[in-house]
Amino acid sequence: MILVTGGAGYIGSHTSVELIKNGYDIVILDNLCNSKYESINRIIELTGKEVPFEKVDLLDYDGVKAVFDKYDIDAVIHFAGLKAVGESVEKPMLYYNNNITGTLNLLRIMNDYGCKKIVFSSSATVYGITKVVPVTEDMPTGTTNPYGSTKLMLENIMRDISVSDSDWSIVLLRYFNPIGAHESGRIGEDPNGIPNNLMPRICNVATGKMEKLTVWGDDYDTHDGTGVRDYIHVLDLADGHVAAVRKTFSTNGVMTYNLGTGIGYSVYDLIKTFERVNDTSVPYVVCPRRAGDIGALYADCTRAEEEMGWKAKRGLEDMCRDTYRFLINNPNGYSE
Ligand code: NAD
Ligand code: WQD
Repeated sequence: MILVTGGAGYIGSHTSVELIKNGYDIVILDNLCNSKYESINRIIELTGKEVPFEKVDLLDYDGVKAVFDKYDIDAVIHFAGLKAVGESVEKPMLYYNNNITGTLNLLRIMNDYGCKKIVFSSSATVYGITKVVPVTEDMPTGTTNPYGSTKLMLENIMRDISVSDSDWSIVLLRYFNPIGAHESGRIGEDPNGIPNNLMPRICNVATGKMEKLTVWGDDYDTHDGTGVRDYIHVLDLADGHVAAVRKTFSTNGVMTYNLGTGIGYSVYDLIKTFERVNDTSVPYVVCPRRAGDIGALYADCTRAEEEMGWKAKRGLEDMCRDTYRFLINNPNGYSE
């Protein structure tokens, strides 16, 4: 059985559906601090399978241990964590405690139960302010905010664990910019509060919750001056996790993979594609650059293809269309 921590969240819910479709038995652990139980109902609806759910906080050591007592867990996919960059700058202790202590609890318990296979949600944020694109996994790392630091620290903690005990099999997945939703329109991203990321903000403008999008800078050294990123469909990301968990059953050691498409799209590319495929409009105004932003960041995903046989299949149009379908079908997200 696979334990999916954070499985009620955006990426975890899509991955849970794909794991079940690929024949895996799963149990989801989540404290629902940034998600709703309704996403579990939707996973059950989409797969036609009962999915065991444990509302447990990773900071609750005994609670997590009880989950390992109750289920026979062979491997863990570990999504659970806090992820808002700005909030992490304001509340570093919250982020270090939740992400680091929570993961250390999990790793200690896994070790005690002899479960030594883990797939971890890292992030392209560990490349810091790199100016070289596309980025490969062995390029230097560095972080610019507490959220990013938790990801880099956890990567390093897991590398040390692997050095000390070669039975561990650890896959570190560095996601680029996940967007999109399940093609059924039943699961998608339902952010709490005012979102900071580009796609959720485009959605807010398209639905009239925000009047205009602010484009943060049009004077970068990119094809149209706006920031370029590697947007990846959340279902391609989910497939990447299925490949990664498979990898943990065949190889020991630490493996690090970029998960992106390898293609860089600008803010204007995203706005125009979203408008065209969804026949809607996204008014915007250009503002100065956002502090800490870099011009272009996209991935070299050769290693994931060569070693896991994984490659992103979906294009920007699919990402924009699927995002909008979830939005239109669920105007209040997962709320009643
Ligand atoms: P999300 O917030 O939708 O999902 C994370 C889930 O973890 C939520 O359901 C939340 O309730 C749960 N959680 C948080 N702390 C917990 C704790 N202490 N105990 C139990 N559950 C807890 O986020 P997401 O976008 O699905 O991201 C999943 C993972 O991928 C995160 O670790 C995130 O840092 C990482 N990541 C996300 C992105 C992105 O842009 N979405 C990019 C790179 C990496
Ligand atoms: C994308 C582009 C903005 C909003 C963040 C995290 C990173 C990772 C992914 C978790 C940039 C521009 C945005 C807006 C804009 N998350 N933009 N107007 O900055 O690549 O990465 O999410 O690990 O850690 O830092 O993503 O979506 O915020 O920005 O012009 O209203 O859109 O300047 O060029 P980013 P983003």
